Amino acid sequence: MGYIAGTLFGWESMARYANIVVEPPGPRARKVVEQDRRYIATTTKTSPVVAESASGGVVRDVDGNDLLDFASGIAVMNVGHSHPRVVKAVQEQAERLFHFAGTDFYYSAQVDLARRLASSVPGQCERKVFFSNSGTESIEAAMKLVRWNTGRERFIAFLGAFHGRTLGSLSLTASRPVQQERFFPTVPGAVHVPYAYCYRCAYGMEPSSCGAHCARVIEEVYFQYNVPPEEVAAIFLEPVQGEGGYIFPPKQFIKDMAAICRRHGILLVDDEVQAGMGRTGRMWAIEHFDVAPDILCTAKALGSGLPIAATIFPARLDMGHGAHSNTFGGNLLACASATATLDVIEEEGLIERAASLGEHLHRRLKELAELHEIIGDVRGLGLMQAIELVKDRETKEHAVMERESVITHAYKRGLILLPAGRSAIRLIPPLTVDKDFLDEGIEILDAALREVRK
Ligand SMILES: Cc1ncc(COP(=O)(O)O)c(C=O)c1O
Repeated sequence: MGYIAGTLFGWESMARYANIVVEPPGPRARKVVEQDRRYIATTTKTSPVVAESASGGVVRDVDGNDLLDFASGIAVMNVGHSHPRVVKAVQEQAERLFHFAGTDFYYSAQVDLARRLASSVPGQCERKVFFSNSGTESIEAAMKLVRWNTGRERFIAFLGAFHGRTLGSLSLTASRPVQQERFFPTVPGAVHVPYAYCYRCAYGMEPSSCGAHCARVIEEVYFQYNVPPEEVAAIFLEPVQGEGGYIFPPKQFIKDMAAICRRHGILLVDDEVQAGMGRTGRMWAIEHFDVAPDILCTAKALGSGLPIAATIFPARLDMGHGAHSNTFGGNLLACASATATLDVIEEEGLIERAASLGEHLHRRLKELAELHEIIGDVRGLGLMQAIELVKDRETKEHAVMERESVITHAYKRGLILLPAGRSAIRLIPPLTVDKDFLDEGIEILDAALREVRK
């Protein structure tokens, strides 16, 4: 069988990666989805892609369709699916030792990984690492660390922020009301302020003339009316807001956050769970802003699919024995996967690759925006790109339903996409793909946008 997406959907160019043999979701996929609905807790499912295997940037579904992965398992597979080097490292480790509770005993795999991570964070100080298993846990650890060290109880976070869903990190998260409904009260002390979302400035200002107003209000308004700065332990900051809609702030905003922290003895926690690990064309997204954070949290792409997260912090902030720990953090298989992932990123030059491929993708998305009025904004750094869909470019009304339709039509043509924020679509392929792969993704996206316009 094996005819290409182009022939099936009358799309002109020759597909090299996508290969649609049965309109997805095919019969096998539908069956799994049905069983999933019966047995798996409701979470945040967005489209019925049922994966069977994957390699590089291509996912094969259970019906034999090959799909371009522009979601990377939610920004996890930066080195591509089943990178041979990562697979080998995990296999070899599995034959030696799976697990030995690195919080209570010792092994060199986590020391070696911690040393590399500690030295990767911008700034001069000596650093240590606390390993855990997910982004939210890396944030929980940071919340405890800043409270323990400062004796202060308040936190500043941003509207649109996503830091996780456990009750501590959830108190910092503010990207959708459904995440909060019925969970109040979460950890007290978090105050949310507007982020530098320049396309939709909370103050109706223009980035060219606002003088980073949204940063200044923290001292000029919040600290004057209801937030005593001497009670603030930390500012939790995504240098690029991820789940909130792929929002890229001006440099001044991030620099001002660091300056506010310095002036008031507040710690700056940099959440790189989604934007880190080379995705933006720098190892850590905060490097684009010439700012050194106090604490850096990362997860997702660190383990290339094996759960591992790291809270990287100044050694002087280390907590006392027993204050914080876990069972699986820094698990041997995850450490092997993370170490091999760092090797691949370094040796294959994936950070530079993300930067140059990102420029190409951004240019192609800008071209698409000239063809499709529905694209209100194109933004991104490296291979962390997004388009925001609007019903009208003047009013900027969110094109919510249209966004869902574009994602569905793209999927049916062989392109896996994820939403972000209220009406954005993120484009986050593995950093290992090539230009043809990106161009093919753009062509499918173009076809999906045309379909929705009809
Ligand atoms: C910036 C950021 N922080 C924290 C998290 C939470 O990570 P996890 O889902 O692994 O708990 C996410 C997840 O999307 C994230 O994007």
